[in-house]
Amino acid sequence: MADLDDLREGSRFNTDIAVQNQAFHIKGASHLGWGMKDRLTRIFNAKTGKTVMLAFDHGFIMGPTSGLERIDLTITPLMEYADCLMCSRGILQTSVPANINKPICLRADAGSTILTELNDNVVIDIEDAIRMNVSAMAVMLAIGDPRMEAKTIANLFHAANQGAKYGIPVMGVTAVGKDMERDSRYFGLASRVAAENGANIVKTYYCEGFSNVVAACPVPVVIAGGKKLPELEALELCYRAINDGAAGVDMGRNVFQSEYPIAMIQAVHAVVHEGLDANKAFEMFNDLKK
Ligand code: R5P
Repeated sequence: MADLDDLREGSRFNTDIAVQNQAFHIKGASHLGWGMKDRLTRIFNAKTGKTVMLAFDHGFIMGPTSGLERIDLTITPLMEYADCLMCSRGILQTSVPANINKPICLRADAGSTILTELNDNVVIDIEDAIRMNVSAMAVMLAIGDPRMEAKTIANLFHAANQGAKYGIPVMGVTAVGKDMERDSRYFGLASRVAAENGANIVKTYYCEGFSNVVAACPVPVVIAGGKKLPELEALELCYRAINDGAAGVDMGRNVFQSEYPIAMIQAVHAVVHEGLDANKAFEMFNDLKK
């Protein structure tokens, strides 16, 4: 372990200077092999470098919560509008049409409804991930949680080892606990730890100072949507995140809990890929919902 004496917090993020030495449209991927690059490109659009991931993995720890009671009725109609689908193995194999032809970001760690018991060093077998032809594996990282940090880092590390063997990228999902600060210091720490332990993509939350989180993370950062907001506020969240350097969104409730989810995902798509500001995207949402 490094000498902690006089450990100085980072401050030179240089958020106004673009990433240097990047020869690929995905941050941190220039030196990866062809399979990794191909899978990442299925997730991140080659022209915009961004993605709209539709997250509906919540049931693996929360059960049939609002909007996810019937995947076939509420989520299947949205799939064609997403760039990537994020779900558990159980939902993928039972409820996602195998001819949907969308990249899958598979929830690869084991869920538990008792959150302190979550992820006891259990990650999906890489052979199963290969059989399902997934484009990435998502694993949670509970930085700062004394009971879960080491176990979840071990999960991420293991998934990254297995993924590296077969060219399957790993997405580190930074957790937020009740007692954890939701600030750029925490998300910056969690995102960087995820990337340095092998994540090729990081999913975290938007916060004040988010551009510092992105600048100090050597791989693409996508944001979760969090709890359901009014549509204009959710579109503002997307716009601010993209403006501050996010490579896209991995959004669930703000899409599938909207009264007009198809209009909402299209408006989110326009913010992410076309740079529409929140007001214009909200106008688009209102036009589409008619
Ligand atoms: C987080 O671990 C869950 O896996 C969700 O995928 C994530 O929170 C994104 O969903 P939402 O936008 O509803 O927060």
